[in-house]
Amino acid sequence: MTGDLAQRQPIILDCDPGHDDALAILLAAAAPSLELLAITTVAGNQTLEKTTLNARRICTVAGIHGVPIAAGADRPLAHEVRVAAEIHGESGLDGPAFGEPQVPLDARQAADLISELSRSVDGLVLVATGPLTNVATVLARDPGLAGRLRRLVLMGGAIGIGNTTPAAEFNIATDAEAARAVFESGLPITMVPLEATHHALATPEVLARIAAIGTPLAAMTVDLLAFFATTYRNVFGFDSPPVHDPCAVAWVIDETQAEFSYGRTVCDVYGVTGRPPNAEVATAVAAERFWDLMIDALASYAGEPSDPPYAAQELG
Ligand code: BDR
Ligand code: CA
Repeated sequence: MTGDLAQRQPIILDCDPGHDDALAILLAAAAPSLELLAITTVAGNQTLEKTTLNARRICTVAGIHGVPIAAGADRPLAHEVRVAAEIHGESGLDGPAFGEPQVPLDARQAADLISELSRSVDGLVLVATGPLTNVATVLARDPGLAGRLRRLVLMGGAIGIGNTTPAAEFNIATDAEAARAVFESGLPITMVPLEATHHALATPEVLARIAAIGTPLAAMTVDLLAFFATTYRNVFGFDSPPVHDPCAVAWVIDETQAEFSYGRTVCDVYGVTGRPPNAEVATAVAAERFWDLMIDALASYAGEPSDPPYAAQELG
């Protein structure tokens, strides 16, 4: 891991691994601009016991040591847990074969660890990629959390159609009472909903790029994504599966590199500021169309490949 410690953004990742949570862990631990202080787990994609084991499995394969993994809520605030075995399998991380995890479980409760770190670390960002039960639990015991965190970045919700009920996305539907408490807490929140994450598709091209890395971790990631692709195809009819959770981590990485507020583009969607519109805003990328355009443009340049320094070439 590289990067200037003094400038790295401290984060906690609260998750329910889960295939895409696994990718969120790998991104959070490797990003030079982030300092991953803890992984906390919650019941969601599978039972708490399984999601916690899965976090330890991923850290073991990736060689992520020294990041505490603490278990949290084993059920939503007001009802029984609803797992997503149809998407993530019986283990919650079906696909690869894992050995015994070498990374230990921290003895602390997730809520205690989050509260403790929010007191000792300035400017902490909490990234939540599972149901919001742990976050709501901390807020209930320690409402001051809302004023101490820099931000909560959560993968969850939908502007429009849900993926668990016609109205609701899985992380919110699993513990809507917790989500309500979190959204009403006064915490600064960035929500990364399905409309955004459905652009982050693990296409066969993406899989080929990952496989080409050639490491055991890359091979495991391909196996994970291959399983995820199968269930997403069977359940939702997607050609390629959307990797939701690392999008929330990626949001923090880009925001961090933008120095938090410098260059922020504030979009007044409902015109509440009364200012005249000064731009049109793209809210999505048609990825295939974009790459067709880009690759066609690159292919239109004439000439043989040249050794560096790259000679200017005439348009063909
Ligand atoms: C969310 O639900 C879970 O199955 C995924 O891990 C992700 O966090 C997407 O709706
Ligand atoms: Ca998740």
